[in-house]
Amino acid sequence: MKTVAIIGGTGHQGPGLALRWAKSGRYRVIVGSRDAAKAQAVADSLNARLGKRLVEGMHNADAAAAADIVVLTVPYSAHLATLESIRAQLKGKVLVDVTVPLQPPRVSHAYIPPAGSATAEAQEFLGEEVRVVCAFQNVSATHLSQLDEPLDCDVLVCGDDKDAKAEAIALAEAAETRGFDAGPLQNAVVVEGLTAILIGINKRYNADGAGIRITGLP
Ligand SMILES: NC(=O)c1ccc[n+]([C@@H]2O[C@H](COP(=O)([O-])OP(=O)(O)OC[C@H]3O[C@@H](n4cnc5c(N)ncnc54)[C@H](OP(=O)(O)O)[C@@H]3O)[C@@H](O)[C@H]2O)c1
Repeated sequence: MKTVAIIGGTGHQGPGLALRWAKSGRYRVIVGSRDAAKAQAVADSLNARLGKRLVEGMHNADAAAAADIVVLTVPYSAHLATLESIRAQLKGKVLVDVTVPLQPPRVSHAYIPPAGSATAEAQEFLGEEVRVVCAFQNVSATHLSQLDEPLDCDVLVCGDDKDAKAEAIALAEAAETRGFDAGPLQNAVVVEGLTAILIGINKRYNADGAGIRITGLP
């Protein structure tokens, strides 16, 4: 069984992903934090919801070291500093970057970082030894944590390594939705930007978790 660690997994997006992956029984799941005690407390509350001790909590660096697949769920303002803090532990691994480059307070306006996307920034920063893909940017934390309901949102995965994309697609399937290979890392700008659109739709239509679906497939 592979181990997946969620760095910054103590916030809004991370716990829902942890719950779904733990519930699937397909992964060992670790929630990471800058504070090991906080990570353990969040893991304890998730285990209480699951009714089993399936999730562990660790300091971010220990979580990344213990993982085969590392998932990053931190605000964009903490993106590069967090990557720096786990850089050594990421070598040779797959990084699934969930970060959306939002610029508060204008969170319904797409922002394109100089490298093209947050995912591209991560890949540039980490170099070839880490295979970076983007995924789960369009899935709302609200729906992720509603464990009894199906996840009504597809997951678009972009990256330059096919095997790394397959890992992220498998994570989407373990979360009980569909994952799609959405092309090269260059396309991450579109997936990240879609989240700003979904946040705007949530506001304008009084919704709490607008998502996306790919249609027209055979
Ligand atoms: N929330 C959503 O519905 C949603 C949906 C799609 C995508 N996303 C994206 O997913 C990412 C995480 O979203 P979120 O809502 O889970 O964020 P969040 O709750 O604000 O933060 C997640 C975790 O990041 C860590 N963190 C916060 N500030 C930090 C800092 N300055 N330096 C280092 N770590 C810091 C914290 O963990 P510790 O204090 O435990 O270290 C925090 O619990 C964001 O990029 C967001 O745009 C979110």
